[in-house]
Amino acid sequence: MRDDGDREPPANPSDTPSLRELAELALTRRRFLQAGVAGAFAALPGARLFAGAPALGFQSVPPSAADAVTVAPGYRAQVLYRWGDAVGAAAGAPTFRPDAGNSAAEQALQAGMNHDAIEYFPLPRDSRASARGLLAMNHEYADDGLLHPDGMKTWSAEKVRKSQAAHGVSVIEVERAGADWRVVRPSQYARRITAYTPMRIAGPVAGTDLVRTSADPAGTTVLGTFNNCAGGRTPWGTYLTCEENFHSYFGGKPPVTAAMQRYGLGRGGWGFRWEEHDRRFDLAAEPNEPNRFGWVVEIDPYDPRSMPVKRTALGRFMREGAMLTLAADGRVVVYSGDDAPFEYVYKFVSRDRYAGRPADRDLLDRGTLYVARFAADGTGEWRALRHGDPGLTVADGFASQADLLVRARMAADALGATRMDRPEWVAVHPRTREVYCSLTNNPRRGAEGRPPADAANPRAPNIYGHIVRWREAGGDPAATRFAWDIFVQGGDPAQADPARRGTVKGDGFGSPDGLAFDARGVLWIATDGGTGGDYAGLGNNQLLAADTVTGETRRFLVGPRACEMTGIAFAPDGRTLFVNVQHPGTQGRSDPDHPRAGSNWPDFDPAGRPRAATLAITKDDGGVIGR
Ligand code: FEO
Ligand code: CA
Ligand code: CA
Ligand code: CA
Repeated sequence: MRDDGDREPPANPSDTPSLRELAELALTRRRFLQAGVAGAFAALPGARLFAGAPALGFQSVPPSAADAVTVAPGYRAQVLYRWGDAVGAAAGAPTFRPDAGNSAAEQALQAGMNHDAIEYFPLPRDSRASARGLLAMNHEYADDGLLHPDGMKTWSAEKVRKSQAAHGVSVIEVERAGADWRVVRPSQYARRITAYTPMRIAGPVAGTDLVRTSADPAGTTVLGTFNNCAGGRTPWGTYLTCEENFHSYFGGKPPVTAAMQRYGLGRGGWGFRWEEHDRRFDLAAEPNEPNRFGWVVEIDPYDPRSMPVKRTALGRFMREGAMLTLAADGRVVVYSGDDAPFEYVYKFVSRDRYAGRPADRDLLDRGTLYVARFAADGTGEWRALRHGDPGLTVADGFASQADLLVRARMAADALGATRMDRPEWVAVHPRTREVYCSLTNNPRRGAEGRPPADAANPRAPNIYGHIVRWREAGGDPAATRFAWDIFVQGGDPAQADPARRGTVKGDGFGSPDGLAFDARGVLWIATDGGTGGDYAGLGNNQLLAADTVTGETRRFLVGPRACEMTGIAFAPDGRTLFVNVQHPGTQGRSDPDHPRAGSNWPDFDPAGRPRAATLAITKDDGGVIGR
């Protein structure tokens, strides 16, 4: 589990393998195995590059409550792409109106609100270009208090359309010139995908009764994606975006089924009010519409004409992200958390192997979905959500595999999966293949009528969250057994109560959410914690780096007030880090009469409003980030 090698960083961190190279390694290994040369994987050049543990080579940033981005000395954080900036799909794009006066049609050509996951795709495709590429990123949700000049005081079809246009995904082209990055406009690749962009439904659920609606009697196409939280990428160069709290957009008063209840539907949603002007969000009118959300959506950023695809074989839940890696034999493995209190950790293993062929594009349509069970003795098991298995039969109420995938939470209940403290992002160590999963917090654990603490979720209540990690049997991501431990329990080291101090070595933090490894094997942690109270001593949300060998965490960047830090993507050379600042100024819905009450970052326009934005972080000496 630990690296006992020397502590020199690798000579050239840019030589650590990309997903594509891992794919090639897996293919090579298969050929070796076919030739009867077992164990060849360990001897491949890609594995050898990782001798030596990574180190944190930057100076820690203290906690801060300032309305500013503070980054480690010797680094620069440039604001690259803000809510309302033109996406660049065409020349003459609409400019942002700081009074929120842009129309719905204009918003559909501009950056959406509340940037979340982000991935970098080099240009040209299949290169390791680190000075020109595409960024694909999520816009998780719209803050209607900031999106319209008078917030939600009046409500109209145009406002619903603008809210829907502020959701979804951006694909933008970016290039580096010296220390600066800029968005290329116009760009042949640039596009916005919104809550009404046409998409295809693929996999076992496509074409079934479960997803038929009056607008789509075939059950094969759907309009849009929303509440896109974390994401992922594939070795074939596509972006995976994940639909998290989709239930919160549906209103109306339907007869509430057990399945609706299990997915939080039928309680009126979170006040987006889409159902008032868009019939498909009225559950009484279209009870199947919510079955068309909660999926992983695959987008080809290199082809702006391609239609996004919902991959239903991966199951439906409040899906945080989709961390893809490759099994030893080349099968595709995707890890995901279901981010709600007491929900589960899942993984999908494809039936077929990645082989670098055009047919690989549909690998995510066939495979097995598993859910994790963490035993108290430090072992764990992946249990298959396979229709017909004990507990998952017709007699148990599951009509088909499609039915089971739509109600994955209920199938996982039947399998005795472990109820976790809000599983968010998953990251896989590039060398050890250890898997890390952030469990952001769960103040309800241990409350009356709620599950008590258990081995994998040891604090009740869990105020600061923790990160659990596991090692798959034989180091193979497709294995069905694993060994696990807790990497760190978040906390404030200044607290007297040991349960609130946590087990942090180094800089304290709470509510870990975004996780990503850089090519050197440093774990980057983005936080999404509260303000004040238990979090007062930790300052604003932040980005930290962790040495997984020593366990040390060090604060690299602090965001502006009331923001969440999220979306971690490195250019292939490791010399630029793109991160997203989400919802500066508010953790709820803003007051339109006081749009600058919580923050006025990044413009500080006295008549403007705070704007979520992508940061491009570079080192003054042009070096590798974090080293
Ligand atoms: Fe959208 Fe679970 O964070
Ligand atoms: Ca968020
Ligand atoms: Ca998140
Ligand atoms: Ca979160």
